[in-house]
Amino acid sequence: MKTQVAIVGAGPAGLMLAHLLHLADIESVIIEARSRSYVEGRIRAGVLEQGTVDLLNAIGVGERMRREGLLHQGIELGFAGKRHRIDMQQLTGQAVMVYGQHEVVKDLIRARLFAGEKIVFEADSVSIHDFANGSPLVRYEKDGMHHELNCDYIAGCDGFHGVCRPSVPTNALAVYERVYPFGWLGVLADAAPSQGELVYMNHANGFALFSMRSPTVTRLYLQCDPADDIAGWSDDRIWNELLCRFKCSDGWEPNVGRITQKSITPMRSFVTEPMQFGRLFLAGDAAHIVPPTGAKGMNLAIADARVLARALAEFYSAGSTARLGDYSQTCLRRIWKAQRFSWWMTSMLHQFPDASQFDRRRQIAELDYVTSSQIAARSLAENYVGLPMEDPDQWAG
Ligand code: FAD
Ligand code: DHB
Repeated sequence: MKTQVAIVGAGPAGLMLAHLLHLADIESVIIEARSRSYVEGRIRAGVLEQGTVDLLNAIGVGERMRREGLLHQGIELGFAGKRHRIDMQQLTGQAVMVYGQHEVVKDLIRARLFAGEKIVFEADSVSIHDFANGSPLVRYEKDGMHHELNCDYIAGCDGFHGVCRPSVPTNALAVYERVYPFGWLGVLADAAPSQGELVYMNHANGFALFSMRSPTVTRLYLQCDPADDIAGWSDDRIWNELLCRFKCSDGWEPNVGRITQKSITPMRSFVTEPMQFGRLFLAGDAAHIVPPTGAKGMNLAIADARVLARALAEFYSAGSTARLGDYSQTCLRRIWKAQRFSWWMTSMLHQFPDASQFDRRRQIAELDYVTSSQIAARSLAENYVGLPMEDPDQWAG
């Protein structure tokens, strides 16, 4: 089999890249290790930056998001038993959309299959070859048969645990990493959200986040030990801890309901430089991970896909590799700013096991500053709604 771009991974990065390439008349094949139902049911991120929302609309896959997504013009930061609103709309003129990542994934898969384009689900033993120069090749097995996909370029969109990044010679990539001494326990609950906006809560027992997925489903997170076994977190224990951490002087609390999904995610900051090796381009979590406190991971994955699609379009339409050569640099400038923001939000809101009383008081002073100074609040809001893309007009209209 032969194609122009072989895409490894059908997450937000791979699916968005495939759709943008399709719009530019560039052929691609997506090779995905999991089944369609698995990737469409994988519960992860929930916050779309304004630029991501605009892109989904511009490329014709935003119809369900406009109907079912929840537009949020502000968020709340809580500490010392009080919640404080950051009015993003007023501070930046922009908002975010709460719409599950798995819904974005469903919309992109539907659009791809509707266009008659190919996704190979449940591909086993995926490996990539000959991408240093020359003619790249992806090998995989499907239903016990060996397959080879020849291509001009490989897009490694296979997430943090994928095969593409580890296939690059180790001395060719520099890695910058910080592992945090905590994780997030995330739950989905059949409970109507008890208020309309997200609450990021700093509490002495640890961070907690109140979010939502629909008018009947609440999404909640608790800071926990990353080594915790989820079996040790009974539903009762989860609700006790959530209600304790969200306790506010005005009596607000999340509604309690049946927990339908729970899992623990470790937290790290991680960047690979460069994001390219020969004819292999890494995009999304394959190249970088942010702690989820800034709600940036999926948005960065989609932003990478956008930069890469544009560079490939320039190559196929004009024969120029200039943008492909700039791919890493273009993405990394914005990625490092999102890394900084995600690290800062994480540091401000979580309890660190080795924190001193001085650290704790400084943390509360920072929250007090950010929620009482319009200038500080504006900086938070500007980063939260998403810093500008390199090419804001590229996919407009
Ligand atoms: P992935 O979504 O990981 O997709 C990679 C794909 O590659 C997968 O489908 C995988 O099955 C496939 N794959 C892996 N290995 C192979 C292989 N060998 N061969 C073929 N296919 C393979 N981000 C936000 O923007 N906002 C948020 O609010 C937010 N909240 C989060 C909350 C939590 C609890 C977590 C865990 C993450 C959150 N994120 C958030 C981060 C976001 O989910 C990720 O950054 C996003 O999934 C990255 O997309 P991706 O396409 O790069 O990788
Ligand atoms: C959600 C996830 C995040 O990481 C975040 O910062 C806000 C909301 C969510 O899943 O709804």
